[in-house]
Amino acid sequence: MDLRIPVSCSPCSSIRPNRRNRASTLAMTAKSQLQMDSAVTSTQVPTHSVTVHDRKRGVVHTFSVPEDQYILHSAESQDISLPFACRHGCCTSCAVRIKSGQIRQPEALGISAELREKGYALLCVGFPSTDVEVETQDEDEVYWLQFGRYFARGPIDRDDYALELAMGDE
Ligand code: FES
Repeated sequence: MDLRIPVSCSPCSSIRPNRRNRASTLAMTAKSQLQMDSAVTSTQVPTHSVTVHDRKRGVVHTFSVPEDQYILHSAESQDISLPFACRHGCCTSCAVRIKSGQIRQPEALGISAELREKGYALLCVGFPSTDVEVETQDEDEVYWLQFGRYFARGPIDRDDYALELAMGDE
């Protein structure tokens, strides 16, 4: 038994042009939507000028950062090298003092609310809310400000004898 349907009688032949038109319309709609999305993105997300005074290296970087991107990531994508370690807002290696402007940092777990209010920020999880000028911190400055009070006797002196004993065990 032959089940073939003549092309001219095929129900598909009558809807093919419509499908093609619909697919073409959908493609155009998708393309238009993409164009609109990119236009919306470029107009809705402001970009800010960020200036970082890297005190340790003695250089000043000025670069643009969209308001929805981390400052550290954006700097790296522009071949600008800044201090960092964990990249997750925990270690304070990327901490800076804000000289002017504002940085939004909802994920900055490594810095206390008190230090944030005093103008410290973490670049790895910081978004610029305005044009910003910052300077890198002294080594361990934020760490000490945040945790120093827990070390009642101040920083721990290096104990070479204890170090020697520890190395001897390995
Ligand atoms: S790199 Fe560790 S807190 Fe930013």
